[in-house]
Amino acid sequence: MNVLGIETSCDETAVAVVRDGRAVLANVVASQVTLHAGYGGVVPELAAREHLTAIQPVVDAALAQSGLSLAAMDAVAVTNAPGLVPALLVGCAYAKGVALALGCPVVGVNHFLAHIYGSFYGCPDLLADAAAFPLLALVVSGGHTALVTVSADGHARLVGVTLDDAAGEAYDKVAKILDLGYPGGPLIDRLATTGNPKAYAFPRGLTGTSGKALAPENRLNFSFSGVKTSLLYAVRDRTLTSSDRADLAASFQQAVVEVLVAKTLRAAAEVGAPTVCVCGGVACNSQLRRDMDTALRKAGRRLVLAEPKYCTDNAAMVAGLGYHTLRRGGPPAAGFRVSARLGADLGKVPFAPLLKDDD
Ligand code: KG4
Ligand code: ZN
Repeated sequence: MNVLGIETSCDETAVAVVRDGRAVLANVVASQVTLHAGYGGVVPELAAREHLTAIQPVVDAALAQSGLSLAAMDAVAVTNAPGLVPALLVGCAYAKGVALALGCPVVGVNHFLAHIYGSFYGCPDLLADAAAFPLLALVVSGGHTALVTVSADGHARLVGVTLDDAAGEAYDKVAKILDLGYPGGPLIDRLATTGNPKAYAFPRGLTGTSGKALAPENRLNFSFSGVKTSLLYAVRDRTLTSSDRADLAASFQQAVVEVLVAKTLRAAAEVGAPTVCVCGGVACNSQLRRDMDTALRKAGRRLVLAEPKYCTDNAAMVAGLGYHTLRRGGPPAAGFRVSARLGADLGKVPFAPLLKDDD
């Protein structure tokens, strides 16, 4: 089954063609980074207008890359939540229109769960291996920082979330404070390699190391606003040299990565997860990839790191998850709405090994 995937939840217009949930025949991403760079963040209305202009050329580019015509698509999958509502509406309206014209099904896909699915393109056989479950996924992006377990029969459960900023959001805000540009993640990642990670002792949010006792319910939760505020105070009324900036970037990154790794390890031990997936834009981070690998090797757990092109927003992850949803009977055709929020109940994911065909 050829699925046309469409993603417009934030500032990337992305289209992919994926066959049977595993073979990525095309994966095209048009970034709006330069459009939003001057604002230090994404402006929803501008994003929506840009999606409108970009969507048809990006679809054309994806079809050309796949070597298939639009008529060869068997279904359309589109992100319908969570995200920026005006931006989501563009992708959903387009997807429903195409599906109507082709007379094929269209399915709304949850962007957050799609990020988890993006981890599997490097190892699709994992999805048939019950011994690899329960999975623990760290979804770490500009919009989310959360730990999710997925049991072998598909039950997904949020076991930890950020109480304030997502990690990627903190990267972007810190980059703005340091005058580095947008998006901040890749810029800080690069700059950090030249700085001293011990130069500043930034707080490690919700780890109980600040002298304040950690409430049991926050054991697996995150908080990144403290490290950002602390950095803001550290630079106030100072003229920064380039070596100051590098030390600040390295110390900030150390504080964020240390907490992400420690909480992931703790969650994996608590739920007894043999496999840990790390996905979302911040999963591109070089130190996070390295430190997570070292820590999980030591803990005897398998690490599945999404390939960088499937970490940041893309439509291959949307088409893949959409395929599995449709295979299992999926939600009613065209009857979905857009939503800004993730929702507390993740329900069942359609890609686990012990799902029954009538699940
Ligand atoms: O998954 P994504 O493309 O969009 C959301 O769903 O949010 O993630 C974008 C986020 C941005 O905040 C960006 O700064 C961050 O991912 N990011 C990184 C790196 N590359 C992208 N953060 C840290 N290190 C990186 N190398
Ligand atoms: Zn995303």
